Amino acid sequence: MSETKRVIAALDLPPRLAHKKTVDSFEAAAKRWNAKLLWIREPLYKCHPFWQKLMVCRHVIDTVGHCQLLQLDTDMLIRDDCPSPFDLIGKEQMGMVAGRQGIFMNLSKTSWAHRAHGIWARRLGTKSAPPWAHPNGGFYLYHTESFADFFDEIAAKGPSAKFDKRFGCDETIVINHLWDKCPERILYLPGEFNTLLHHNPHLCEHRSMQTYVYHFVAGTKRHLPKMWWQRGKNPAQPLPAGKHAQVVFELLRSAEGPMRKGVEVGVFHGVTSANLLALMPDLQLYGVDPWTQYSEDAEQPNPDHVQQLGDTKTLYWGLPIALRHLAVNANRWHPIRLPSVKAARCFEDGELDFVFIDAEHSYEAVKADIDAWLPKLRDGGLLIGHDYDPNRFPGVCRAVDEFAESNQAGIVRAGHSVWAITIDSTGAAIHASVKAGVTA
Ligand SMILES: C[S@@+](CC[C@H](N)C(=O)[O-])C[C@H]1O[C@@H](n2cnc3c(N)ncnc32)[C@H](O)[C@@H]1O
Repeated sequence: MSETKRVIAALDLPPRLAHKKTVDSFEAAAKRWNAKLLWIREPLYKCHPFWQKLMVCRHVIDTVGHCQLLQLDTDMLIRDDCPSPFDLIGKEQMGMVAGRQGIFMNLSKTSWAHRAHGIWARRLGTKSAPPWAHPNGGFYLYHTESFADFFDEIAAKGPSAKFDKRFGCDETIVINHLWDKCPERILYLPGEFNTLLHHNPHLCEHRSMQTYVYHFVAGTKRHLPKMWWQRGKNPAQPLPAGKHAQVVFELLRSAEGPMRKGVEVGVFHGVTSANLLALMPDLQLYGVDPWTQYSEDAEQPNPDHVQQLGDTKTLYWGLPIALRHLAVNANRWHPIRLPSVKAARCFEDGELDFVFIDAEHSYEAVKADIDAWLPKLRDGGLLIGHDYDPNRFPGVCRAVDEFAESNQAGIVRAGHSVWAITIDSTGAAIHASVKAGVTA
């Protein structure tokens, strides 16, 4: 049986043509996914391109024959580590991304988008899809054999003379028709495949932006030329940070087993967290920090991070900064605004792949942190910490050394004051599979 052809088609019409970065990123994706890339540079009909998008299916069939078709807008970038979406849909399904129900999109019954859906439903005689079902435009993935009639039927209703840019777009018409005729064929793909950059255009330039297909809708288009799509060309750490963050990343990368669920104890500005999330797309990270004034925090009687407090003498202002750094990956970052030991009680024993301890640096605090967090690690999990530095933080070294001694564990010193211990199935610490480090 011959394999189904895969095609990526993009309608690229004046006056706004695809930027070179878009062209490059689409070409690279087509090559990786073994798909033919088809730029449609002649109008398909004398009507607005929004309506012409509904005629792309028939045009592709006439040009290259039946295929599995990914229809994209040309104000998008596909990152070079984006996995193929072609394998994600069945023959009868229409794959789309439903990102509009995000809080920023305000897609309530009173929103303009919802009104647009209602208007188009009346004009074209269909039901109006409910707000939560509205997809992002610009990304449709389907088999042409299964949807040719569907698009023909829409096109037959005629490019509307009443087309009004404010009120409607291809996705409105597509979702209404699907909802009306075959709701069971709608398949929502992960949001990463079509992230609308509506609400905060500055996120598009942020190097730790973590998604696969960026969609520069409306006014955000002017940010596209500044945006990157080739991950390899970016620094290992997207945010400038202390060298220890890179060492922590290397340890996690070289550890045994997947590192998907971890905790950073002591987050401060969230720089290490932001880098880890950007570098590890599968990671769900919990950030534990009370972000309080030292004087009010019973667990921090002897502040030893005075160098970080600045003039305000408070860590309170660390939180808004952390939120800014972590916003782009907010769906994978879970802040817990509690002191370390209390926060550990939020987790089941054996639940975590790793814990990175970088909170208060006194002997008592680090000892309490190790005792509280160690049971939370799974077999083969990794306990990592910062500031193993006999001159600056003797308390850290004492707590870690004592722990290692009483458990006959080896400590891995991985550079830049990072220490690590792996956990075996008996719950005792062992020095084992962390290849990146040097043994103390
Ligand atoms: C050295 S900074 C963390 C830096 C961060 N790990 C990084 O690499 O970017 C220490 C942080 O620990 C937090 N902290 C202090 N005592 C804590 C406690 N008992 N539990 C949790 N966090 C604490 C402070 O609020 C401060 O934000």
